[in-house]
Amino acid sequence: MQVEGLTIRRAEPDDYTALYEMFYSPKLYANTLQLPYPSHELWRRRVAEPGEGVHNLVAVVGERVVGMFSLHAFQRPRRQHAGEIGMSVHDDWHGKGVGSALMRAGIDLADNWLNLTRLELEVYTDNEPAIRLYERFGFEREGLLRQHAYRDGRYADSYFMARLRAPAQVTT
Ligand SMILES: CC(C)(COP(=O)(O)OP(=O)(O)OC[C@H]1O[C@@H](n2cnc3c(N)ncnc32)[C@H](O)[C@@H]1OP(=O)(O)O)[C@@H](O)C(=O)NCCC(=O)NCCS
Repeated sequence: MQVEGLTIRRAEPDDYTALYEMFYSPKLYANTLQLPYPSHELWRRRVAEPGEGVHNLVAVVGERVVGMFSLHAFQRPRRQHAGEIGMSVHDDWHGKGVGSALMRAGIDLADNWLNLTRLELEVYTDNEPAIRLYERFGFEREGLLRQHAYRDGRYADSYFMARLRAPAQVTT
């Protein structure tokens, strides 16, 4: 499924208000590691000063930011083949293919431009839509993180998932 007019681009500093509003939704902060009551300043810093190795993409329909994908390419010498990802889509846009479009763009960036061969993520074990999406893109469950995060008054378990890609061949 493809939303008409959907584009993926790098997140820009001005996007922070849209991301702040997106993360006001309980579904979004409960399914990630964010807290309720998001902060403008926190989101401004996240997109304006992303930190080394961090690539933030947004999904946009018309002028509206409807989703975000974040890839952190690790900087430590022996982890430079790997990165971790996180993603979220605005409540009103779930189930319309926005997450898949973000994941396609993020994997293209990781595989074909950053030469990462291992992508990692954490996902709550009860987040079925997210797990289904990740498995469709080749992520596999590598482990169970018990009582991984505190969520709405109790601990929640997560899966640690990863997607491996064969290293690029050298052509002579
Ligand atoms: C997980 C998430 C990013 C998926 O984004 P999306 O735009 O809905 O993804 P897509 O439309 O490309 O669909 C992904 C799959 O989940 C399914 N899905 C989406 N919303 C669903 C829902 N509410 N209930 C059941 N299935 C759902 C889709 O049908 C699709 O399944 P398919 O692959 O079998 O066709 C989005 O649901 C989200 O932002 N959730 C809240 C935050 C979150 O969980 N982030 C991930 C943290 S690890």
